[in-house]
Amino acid sequence: MLKLKIERPSRYPIHIGYGLEIPRADGPKALLYDSAVEPLALDLAEQLEIPVRLGLRGGEEAKTLEVYGQTLSWLAKPALPRDTLLYVVGGGTLTDLGGFLAASYLRGIQFINIPTTTLAIVDASVGGKTGINLPEGKNLAGAFYAPEGVYAELEALQTLPLQIFKEGLVEAFKHGIIAGDEQLLEVENLSVSDSLEPYLARAIAVKVGVVETDPTEKGERRKLNLGHTLGHALEAATDHKLSHGAAVAYGLLFAALLGRAQGGEDLVPTVQKLLAWLSPAPLPGLEWDDLLAFMARDKKKLGTSLNWVVPMGMGDLSIHPIPEDTLRRCYSEFLAFEL
Ligand code: GLY
Repeated sequence: MLKLKIERPSRYPIHIGYGLEIPRADGPKALLYDSAVEPLALDLAEQLEIPVRLGLRGGEEAKTLEVYGQTLSWLAKPALPRDTLLYVVGGGTLTDLGGFLAASYLRGIQFINIPTTTLAIVDASVGGKTGINLPEGKNLAGAFYAPEGVYAELEALQTLPLQIFKEGLVEAFKHGIIAGDEQLLEVENLSVSDSLEPYLARAIAVKVGVVETDPTEKGERRKLNLGHTLGHALEAATDHKLSHGAAVAYGLLFAALLGRAQGGEDLVPTVQKLLAWLSPAPLPGLEWDDLLAFMARDKKKLGTSLNWVVPMGMGDLSIHPIPEDTLRRCYSEFLAFEL
């Protein structure tokens, strides 16, 4: 078992391993879990004596206003008080929803994240971003709200479909480019049966470092959006038929093309290797103009021109607007790739 901790904006432990000891609350408690990991969640409920439980299907459909409302009522009906501890067991969509539920129920109760997918372990469960989607777009309502702890129980990965296991590691690969850490790029050697703690801890440590510097994404944390500007647009334009991990992997290729076009190190072959390993669903035949409306939403959110996170080399990221003709040229190159 490996232990990390994050210090800012608040301090909490991050444990990664098998058969983890999850802190037991003396007071009232509730358990929100992804029904895909029901046996693990119910074991935990028995062990920690949690009578109030709710299982939901994971995925973007868990992050709707309707489901969020249902979860608020689920806590309100038995009149759970403000000193309730909420345990959240599941992938990134569940930890996003559960965190926001904890942030907003009675103006804030404590919660613990027990991430059960690679994506939630290396990214979503750490760093305090919580939220849900609105009909108008992804993650448009939420709060920065830190958990009391993150306990990545790797037993859960045993039942994770291989493609979802791989897709989560795209975020770890992204952390490798951000930190200039070549070892994090070596995803092809990883499998569920390996002892994954050192690799996952290394990937989480990159995120911890960035979040501690800039918890509320005023500057440095924007680096974590590498590959996400195009990635989110691809997800939204395909109505989430393209998964987040696949969309971010494609987004990383586009970012590498931008870096090369701007005179940076050529990271295109590096990202091509990732895509060959991932073997994502084929790229939808979308025109640049089809994606613009979705990217404009990002721009509006920032109230500025759209800033791209551009890898100029390993560990060397530049964040700035890019002229439209360069973007269009790189997108044509991108569409021409045989993957
Ligand atoms: N997933 C990006 C961030 O936490 O900032």
